[in-house]
Amino acid sequence: MQFSYVTLFEGLIASYFEDSILKRAIAKGLLEITFLNPRDYTKNKHGKVDDYQASGGAGLVLFPQPLLDLLRSLKEKSPHAYIIFPTPAGKLFTQNDAKRLAHKEHLVFVSGRYEGIDERVIETFADELFCIGDYVLTGGELPSLVMSDAISRNIKGVLGNEDSLSIESFESPLLEAPCFSKPPLYEDKSVPSEFLKGNHAKITGLKK
Ligand code: ADE
Repeated sequence: MQFSYVTLFEGLIASYFEDSILKRAIAKGLLEITFLNPRDYTKNKHGKVDDYQASGGAGLVLFPQPLLDLLRSLKEKSPHAYIIFPTPAGKLFTQNDAKRLAHKEHLVFVSGRYEGIDERVIETFADELFCIGDYVLTGGELPSLVMSDAISRNIKGVLGNEDSLSIESFESPLLEAPCFSKPPLYEDKSVPSEFLKGNHAKITGLKK
């Protein structure tokens, strides 16, 4: 799976892949990540990417030219790229979306900043628009990461232990049983007996 991030702030995203499971997924060749900066596609002297709103409303918007040129060029090189725009106006991103999108070959996340992205870019290129929750963030980088994390763990081989996924797959609602490590008694708190007997059917019935 390839994830491409269209962002003005690569550093906000890149560091998340420098540790733990996603770092290993890259090392194993299961994930590849690339970054594209709209500033590299500007035609003005100062690399300006934002402008006032046509409506006269407060705040700046990413104007169409750099993003349209960037996405056109990306689609020429990768015609199957599936383009996602995180936005509070999108539909709520769910676990089912994470599972479905884990089968795509190449996902592209386009992060807006300021007041958002000119709607003409979204109309031209969006395959889907997603919101990650009922609140407004300062940009699309965190939502892009949240979605890519949830998608990655549904790619075969990314989680060391495939049982972790199968437990979730038949869970509805998505609450797993609580988990305990060793020792069975720590200070005055003990692990419930079902866990010590390894009775997984009973344990998964013990929702949080
Ligand atoms: N951009 C800003 N806030 C967002 C949210 N809640 N979900 C997706 N994209 C966003």
